[in-house]
Amino acid sequence: MSEIWIQPTGGALGADVYGVDLSQPVSDATFKTIAEAWGEHLVLRFSGQKIDDPTLMTFSARFGELDRVPIAAAGFDRMDSGVVDQAREWVAVIANVKKNGKAMGGLGSYELVWHTDMSYNPLPPRASLLYALEVPPDGGNTGFLNMYAAYETLPDELKRAIEGKTCIHDSSRNSAGELRKGFQTTYDVSKTPGAVHPLVRLHPVTQRKALFLGRRPGAYIHGLSIEESEKLLDAVWAHATQDRFAWYQKWRIGDLVMWDNRCVMHRRDAFDEGLRRLMHRTQIVGEPVLAG
Ligand code: OGA
Ligand code: MN
Repeated sequence: MSEIWIQPTGGALGADVYGVDLSQPVSDATFKTIAEAWGEHLVLRFSGQKIDDPTLMTFSARFGELDRVPIAAAGFDRMDSGVVDQAREWVAVIANVKKNGKAMGGLGSYELVWHTDMSYNPLPPRASLLYALEVPPDGGNTGFLNMYAAYETLPDELKRAIEGKTCIHDSSRNSAGELRKGFQTTYDVSKTPGAVHPLVRLHPVTQRKALFLGRRPGAYIHGLSIEESEKLLDAVWAHATQDRFAWYQKWRIGDLVMWDNRCVMHRRDAFDEGLRRLMHRTQIVGEPVLAG
């Protein structure tokens, strides 16, 4: 039996977890090491895994209650997804591939801009776990941002400006910036639909403060004029999305990457639509957002 070994990426966040075969039951001791590493490194990568959907679900459920697959987000028939019956409610397919001419999953091959998963909900998911079944030889890399570091390094003036403030997280657009079904473009950001969250979030486990941004379009800081809000958000976003807070995952088949959605933002590079990329994803139900 090999021993678990955590290797930080050396970047702003992220670590590899070696010596764990996720197709086998994970002991409590091993799980404890994983959970601690996750708290410290925010994003974990398990490479060379070979797991089916029920196993992905079982492992994911160690981190909390599994979230249901978002129904509205599915521009496709879930029966075509290739996910086994007992997992269909819990495993989302992120893919550009088609089966019999029908999309097997969501999010296509286009760029996904920096975002926090489903932060337009009052209780955004705690975590997402993304498992690669098919990957293009290049393109489609996923970037992650360390939002603790982004907060801690904010210039004092910006820190003071956002202190105690809340922000609207736009529910009308997806992570590609496209308008969702049933929504209209909001021209007045102070009327954007979506959840309202503190700009500084206290992580319930690590007790560290993180900058909490959902996505830039449609955002609005309460208590400011639209002009002031736009200016402040532009400055905070420009700070938070610097390369020095980011680390990129270049996918290989069998990679399982999990991120802490409470202190990490992510994005995805576009890739050639003629290439195949197929991922299975679980999400963990979140807890109430604490102001930092
Ligand atoms: C997601 C997501 C990124 C990717 O599944 O929430 O943003 O690399 N995916 O596909
Ligand atoms: Mn996402």
